[in-house]
Amino acid sequence: MSSEPAPPIRVAVLISGAGSNMAALIDAAQTPGGGPESGSENSYEVALVLSNMEDAGGLAIAAAKGVETAVVPHRPFGNDREAHEKAVDAALRRAGVHVVALAGYMRVLTPWLVGGWRDRMLNIHPSLLPLYPGLHTHARAIAAGDAQAGCTVHLVTEGVDEGPILGQARVPIVPGDTPASLAERVKTAEHGLYPRVLDDFCKGLAPR
Ligand code: GAR
Repeated sequence: MSSEPAPPIRVAVLISGAGSNMAALIDAAQTPGGGPESGSENSYEVALVLSNMEDAGGLAIAAAKGVETAVVPHRPFGNDREAHEKAVDAALRRAGVHVVALAGYMRVLTPWLVGGWRDRMLNIHPSLLPLYPGLHTHARAIAAGDAQAGCTVHLVTEGVDEGPILGQARVPIVPGDTPASLAERVKTAEHGLYPRVLDDFCKGLAPR
């Protein structure tokens, strides 16, 4: 038996925009001994950042961090979501990734892609699911008079923002909060939560 540590799991991060969660995932993986249990090695590496938007701000951030990037625009595929997903899937397979982390990837997925990555695709959502799936989560939490908001990392299943919950982080909603101020507080919580949950998830995967 070798005592070599297991090689990190190759992860692709899918983005559509700013990519701040993606950056947090890369930073955690690239910090030596910066695993969530201090001094431990991270169980994953970000091998690919893929976007459906050519102008996603996160692409330049990923490239500056030395991570391979790819763009698979959805527009040329029109309404054929599955055809676009087949192109995305081909890029994921070419990169040899084992796990996919959605991080602000603003596409509704078809059962075809979800089925192909079942139990290996995670998503982060800016609410305490099952509360507030979909859009405008912060405005809805404030309008409901909630005392707390937060974020959820979950496995991706066919329903939008559904699927088994892997982890949540809570933040207070304070008097005078606007959707923008609450979004900022939740984002900070997301940046702590996602790397920790992804690391735990990859540690729990069966040896390949
Ligand atoms: C994040 O707040 C994420 O939770 C949300 O998009 C934002 C992306 O920000 N995702 C969803 O709403 C998915 N339903 P980022 O590009 O800075 O990571």
